[in-house]
Amino acid sequence: MTTPELGLTAEALVAPGKGILAADESAPTIEKRFRALGIESTEEKRRVYRQMLFTTAGIEEFISGVILFDETIRQKADDGTAFPEVLSRQGIIPGIKVDKGAKPLAGAPGEKVTEGLDGLRERLAEYKGLGARFAKWRAVITIGGGMPSAYCLDANAHALARYAALCQEAGLVPIVEPEVLMDGDHTIERCFDVTEVVLQSVFRALRDQRVTLEHLLLKPNMVLPGTDCPRQASVAEVAEATVRCLLRAVPAAVPGVVFLSGGQAEEDATAHLNAMNTLTGPRPWQLSFSYARALQGPAMKAWGGEARNIAAGQKAFYHRARCNGAARYARYTPELERGRP
Ligand code: 13P
Repeated sequence: MTTPELGLTAEALVAPGKGILAADESAPTIEKRFRALGIESTEEKRRVYRQMLFTTAGIEEFISGVILFDETIRQKADDGTAFPEVLSRQGIIPGIKVDKGAKPLAGAPGEKVTEGLDGLRERLAEYKGLGARFAKWRAVITIGGGMPSAYCLDANAHALARYAALCQEAGLVPIVEPEVLMDGDHTIERCFDVTEVVLQSVFRALRDQRVTLEHLLLKPNMVLPGTDCPRQASVAEVAEATVRCLLRAVPAAVPGVVFLSGGQAEEDATAHLNAMNTLTGPRPWQLSFSYARALQGPAMKAWGGEARNIAAGQKAFYHRARCNGAARYARYTPELERGRP
């Protein structure tokens, strides 16, 4: 069913020193991010913003792939070159978000299930024709009183596996993203337990649905206390707990784990990844990043929707890409963060 090219693409996405830029915010999500900075969200503003990121000189040293949104994969740079081509020319692999968002799960108040399976085979074929070589689907798991339910875990794992099987059939590498949210006052131990059971149910569903583990990437949350938990964790604790959790639940056949940032402060997301890559002991997969907010935050702010700030936005984006690239080698330092070599 799957071809060796998928393994090569997956490996290229987690090549040493590189990670993925998630630039696949849906129209409502990017509007929310823009609005927080007083930027109007028009199609042209979104195009100019994404063009700023994709044409930042030198990012191909740190960015292996970019996840696009349906609107973005069809947009073009000022010179008429389609965005997937803009990326491919720099050796960056274009990808595409294919889920249709997390919707309320019937019969489970407060929980969600991700939609988008209907017609997915046809959409994947179209995206492949537009230049995509990998895809992403995000499931959302909330921690709270009685949550997550086994029903919610099963429904989301089943959908993730159906998506992954269809991607591999279509010749696209699936990024499988079950996100346990940071919202709440739960402890790091609770996040560990929930993340472990979520990952186990996802890998059970992937096996049941005949998905080739060597030809996918996992995009999980890090193991963190809830944002309202009175006891926050040190960088070392987060790194240790996250890797220990992954070792219990993620088969060694998976080539790479590309974390989401999930609302962590930019520097924390980099420091956590760096600390994981400094750990000794068994680590069968590449540990990398697939950040949206933690790569884009300072860049979007520096740009602020103004043409005259493009260079400042690119500088901020390059800096975060470089810091996270260094974290892949466990070489992220305070000096590098402050902009010194
Ligand atoms: P964040 O890094 O902002 O969590 O986004 C990653 C992502 O792609 C969520 O689906």
